[in-house]
Amino acid sequence: MAKLIVGNWKMNGTAALASALVPEIAQFAASRRSDDEIVICPPFTLLAEVARQVQGSFISVGAQDVSAHKDGSFTGDISADMLKEAGCRYVIVGHSERRSLHAETSGQVRAKADAALAAGLIPIICMGETLEQRESGSALSVVEAQVKASIPTASGDFVLAYEPVWAIGSGRNAHSTDIEDMHRHILSLLPEARILYGGSVKAANAGEILSIEGVSGVLVGGASLKAEEFCGIIAAS
Ligand code: PGA
Repeated sequence: MAKLIVGNWKMNGTAALASALVPEIAQFAASRRSDDEIVICPPFTLLAEVARQVQGSFISVGAQDVSAHKDGSFTGDISADMLKEAGCRYVIVGHSERRSLHAETSGQVRAKADAALAAGLIPIICMGETLEQRESGSALSVVEAQVKASIPTASGDFVLAYEPVWAIGSGRNAHSTDIEDMHRHILSLLPEARILYGGSVKAANAGEILSIEGVSGVLVGGASLKAEEFCGIIAAS
């Protein structure tokens, strides 16, 4: 089945990086005969530029966050309509860095996912347990609660991303059997869901992760900033 490969640049990247990286990834994606969808999520300031660069290619653009509000006095925030106008097809919501550094609750994540759907965007809704929760045996129940409280109330296409907090940026990806168990558990709640795995995905482990039952794709942080690594991940699918 076609996979979804998403690169989350986080707060990294300048126009110079975009013009070095994006054409190389687009060229590589075009050279493969594959139905896989590649998504690049640069910072807000580069969205329109990257959307222009990927026009006519196999690559889509996503943002890393969105306001739950349609418009109004929300200084510094960006609405879903603005993202749509900038050329986005996707938006990441509820990334663990937003949940921990900005105290976002699952209720707020749900409101953002609903706002994304209302604007015609596909939300990529993130969830995952901490190391403490994994070690205490509560990973499945923690993620189940996040799923139930974060998915949109409106109907529409969305994607889930299982990202164990301790695996993000640590170089230590989750074990295949734990990924499979978690994805199976989420699928028991939402049988039709597309679920990505994220957390220290790189070219060297992408093949194994993408072949796990129930894994519909990957959400990649650090490795999405290097053309060779990201193309290696695309090639592994
Ligand atoms: P990482 O980040 O690939 O650098 O671990 C993943 C993410 O935060 O989405």
